[in-house]
Amino acid sequence: MTIAVIGSNMVDLISYTHRMPAEGETIEAPDFRMGCGGKGANQAVVASRLGAEVVMVSRVGNDIFADSTLQNFEDNGISTKHVLRTDATSGVAPIFVDPDSRNSIIIVKGANALLTPDDVERAREDIARCELIVLQLEIPLETVYAAVALGNELNIPVLLNPAPASPALDLDRIRDVSFLVPNETELELLTGMPVASLDDVTKATQVLLAAGISNVVVTLGERGALWARADGETLIEATQVRPIDTTGAGDAFIGCFSTSWVGSRDVESAIRASNEYAAASVTRHGTQTSYAWADGRLPE
Ligand code: RIB
Repeated sequence: MTIAVIGSNMVDLISYTHRMPAEGETIEAPDFRMGCGGKGANQAVVASRLGAEVVMVSRVGNDIFADSTLQNFEDNGISTKHVLRTDATSGVAPIFVDPDSRNSIIIVKGANALLTPDDVERAREDIARCELIVLQLEIPLETVYAAVALGNELNIPVLLNPAPASPALDLDRIRDVSFLVPNETELELLTGMPVASLDDVTKATQVLLAAGISNVVVTLGERGALWARADGETLIEATQVRPIDTTGAGDAFIGCFSTSWVGSRDVESAIRASNEYAAASVTRHGTQTSYAWADGRLPE
């Protein structure tokens, strides 16, 4: 199983707070953790831990965060051949998690904002060996569009996780993706439709199907995930857990879905496995620190 992840990496700076500060207020937080993150890197690390060979195309800066990110890819069995050093700061993500496990994230893209269509083209030979291309939106949209076009040219299915939500995303240029995997907020922004009920979510997915996307998988947190395609929709319910940190749960889902789908070509069973994997991840702190290996092993 070989999967290309063309996307971001960040260093996550996570503060566990009693509450969010008001404007102009300083508050004390009881706990802090730092770890490797970024939606692209998180999804790549999950895929690798679950047994896929990952071709990672990304950019780091020229600071100490770059060194730890490169080391982290290597430690997770991901080649850094296409992870380019850039004369910029590395991506960082200050994150705040409250006692109800809700998170707020600020991303500073740094080098991620400089990943270009040429970088994708330079990795063409290795991407051509892959069975799936996985994309998110923490890199420039033109680079995302170039990767979708390359996938079509090479006849490789493409999965796009439209996160974080971007109003500038041009549906016409991503209509050829095989899988679009938004959460409810991203679905609302993409379609301009309400997503309060399951019925609303289903109607919103129809807009995307009508635009030409073959499969829309909406992640719904503790409600599970809705898979919509031309011939109908299926709700696949989630395993219920007590969450302590939901940061990176969407990435856990996508990394697991990518690996499971490439292995089985069965969307429903891949969603079932991903619901379970993501649910387990929210019972642990952090992003990559919450992702298990296929044998159940956890990071120390
Ligand atoms: O999806 C979670 C990720 O979003 C974090 O790791 C953070 O880096 C941001 O990219």
